[in-house]
Amino acid sequence: MTRQFFVGGNFKMNPATREAKRALVEVLNQAPLDPNTEVVIAPPSLYLIPILDLLRKDVKVAAQNCHSKTSGAFTGEVSPAQLVDAGIPYVILGHSERRTLFGETSAIVAEKTRAALDAGLRVILCAGETLAEREAGRTQQVVEEQLQAVVGRLSPEDWSRIVIAYEPVWAIGTGKVATAGQAQEVHAATRKYLTSAVSPAVAESTRVIYGGSVTASNCKELSIQPDVDGFLVGGASLETRIRGHRECKG
Ligand code: G3P
Repeated sequence: MTRQFFVGGNFKMNPATREAKRALVEVLNQAPLDPNTEVVIAPPSLYLIPILDLLRKDVKVAAQNCHSKTSGAFTGEVSPAQLVDAGIPYVILGHSERRTLFGETSAIVAEKTRAALDAGLRVILCAGETLAEREAGRTQQVVEEQLQAVVGRLSPEDWSRIVIAYEPVWAIGTGKVATAGQAQEVHAATRKYLTSAVSPAVAESTRVIYGGSVTASNCKELSIQPDVDGFLVGGASLETRIRGHRECKG
């Protein structure tokens, strides 16, 4: 099966000004993108609607998080229903920064994933181990524990709206990108896990993308790995150039 290549840009809490935001969108609007690659950018929530109005229509927009409730007394939060109402099709959930800095457990991530799907969103579901967990040989155990919480809340049909992002915590923002072999190993093991935990069809069709210090100089070798279906790019996505499949494949 051919899975559509996916390139996501997670802007995190950047850029800092509306002028920089406009400049970023302007360059993206003129970028030569591969029509066969799905491109999604995730700006800060404050910029979601303005960017949606400025952005070319072949690039999608994602929120970086959402609450699990539809509305209510949750100061500072954004609901899945509000994102759908605003025309935002994707949301990133379970990013390691949400897990480590904001105490999001896998159970919370699963609850949010269920709520996001129920509202009609597509989900970029993040999972990944810390350096200590990798050095202890627990990488796959940690990734599967994080995914298992979500598996228990989803039907097989739900997986058509999930993109899994394997993001080793030790590679995020560090410049220490996983080797192609490391990424392929975890991606293949994750697909094998999905085969038994959900179904062979879901395992085959679900895109598993890599995130963690991806740049223009290292994306080619990663992109040709059989189980690497794309990227979730942080810092390099702010360099105003998202490389599509063809450029990464060389
Ligand atoms: O969600 C993607 C992000 O965590 C990766 O960040 O800066 O290492 O590409 P970066």
